[in-house]
Amino acid sequence: MGKNIDEKDVVLKVEHLVKRYPVKKGVFGRAKSYVHALEDVSFELRRGETFAIVGESGCGKSTTGKCVLRLTEPTSGTVYLDGEELTALSGAELTRARQKMKLIFQDPYSSLNPRMTVADIIAEPIDIAGTYKTREERDARVERVMEAVGLDLSYKYRYPHEFSGGQRQRIGIARAIALVPEVVVCDEPVSALDVSVQAKVINLLERLQDELGLSYVFISHDLSVVKHIADTVMVMYLGHAMELASADELFSNPLHPYTQALLDVIPRIADERIQDKRILQGDVPSPTNPPSGCAFSTRCPKCMAVCRERVPEKFEVEPGHACRCHLFDESLSEAERQFVAGKEA
Ligand SMILES: Nc1ncnc2c1ncn2[C@@H]1O[C@H](COP(=O)(O)OP(=O)(O)OP(=O)(O)O)[C@@H](O)[C@H]1O
Ligand SMILES: [Mg+2]
Repeated sequence: MGKNIDEKDVVLKVEHLVKRYPVKKGVFGRAKSYVHALEDVSFELRRGETFAIVGESGCGKSTTGKCVLRLTEPTSGTVYLDGEELTALSGAELTRARQKMKLIFQDPYSSLNPRMTVADIIAEPIDIAGTYKTREERDARVERVMEAVGLDLSYKYRYPHEFSGGQRQRIGIARAIALVPEVVVCDEPVSALDVSVQAKVINLLERLQDELGLSYVFISHDLSVVKHIADTVMVMYLGHAMELASADELFSNPLHPYTQALLDVIPRIADERIQDKRILQGDVPSPTNPPSGCAFSTRCPKCMAVCRERVPEKFEVEPGHACRCHLFDESLSEAERQFVAGKEA
């Protein structure tokens, strides 16, 4: 039996999520190695808030989203949705619980069925859930949802290919919110759109959040979008949650050398007082063969001896501001603090 939690303002709670994808190799197709996609990721999403996950390509953002939705099974770890242990459910119970959580995809071109009309695409989750007894109620709901996302009702019987990227993303959003879920996982929802359209879709997501009380997990590599929309931000690197803080705190006081390097890449939001630019050097190591110690140690400009040896714990540097970095470990010895070059040893 799952353990249920009672924390009213926390709608989604993720504890110690680990995901290793087996890599099939060899004649018999047995898993010889694993992609370490997620290593001990924990976070909470409060009701009505936006929790952003940022980091470079391949750091595990989408995998986090998929594990949370149980579209892929986590190797270990626990997910609570609305106080209920989602990772302990199966079958009809899982289907019911999962109604409370929806996904908005990056690519509005491939995520909509080209053979279905706009009305049927939006109605599909409503029909599956069997929410409405009569056709009239169901159709009325579809129209209300279309209006809510700014789609003209004359589009009802058109097909996805007749629309622009922004309009298609509105259709995807309408489908996701048709039954007013608790949580929406938005995986790069505007990355595929023209910059001019991005702001409109972001504004729509924010308006829907206010009107419907939605909570978002917002996955993005675009820090300027995240700075605008997020309440809380988690920075990921090679499957690890490196830093977690409120958006205000993270952007004004980044603590992890990786976060600092990420922010430096974006001149618009970099702190002008930072003179020594800490531009990221070297490649991200392979997640099938991650470095020993801290995942960022091979690229870190502040790498110390201990960083090659041990995975850093999560230090709560200030209330609500956590950082996985040995720099914040006050118990280190002189030898452990010894500076080493942030390149391959
Ligand atoms: N089904 C899979 N099988 C094997 N490896 C996978 C699978 N899905 C993802 N991975 C690997 O897991 C790691 C994390 O991938 P993920 O898609 O979560 O990254 P991401 O942060 O979403 O990247 P992007 O910004 O490119 O979308 C990557 O190394 C990726 O290659
Ligand atoms: Mg992704």
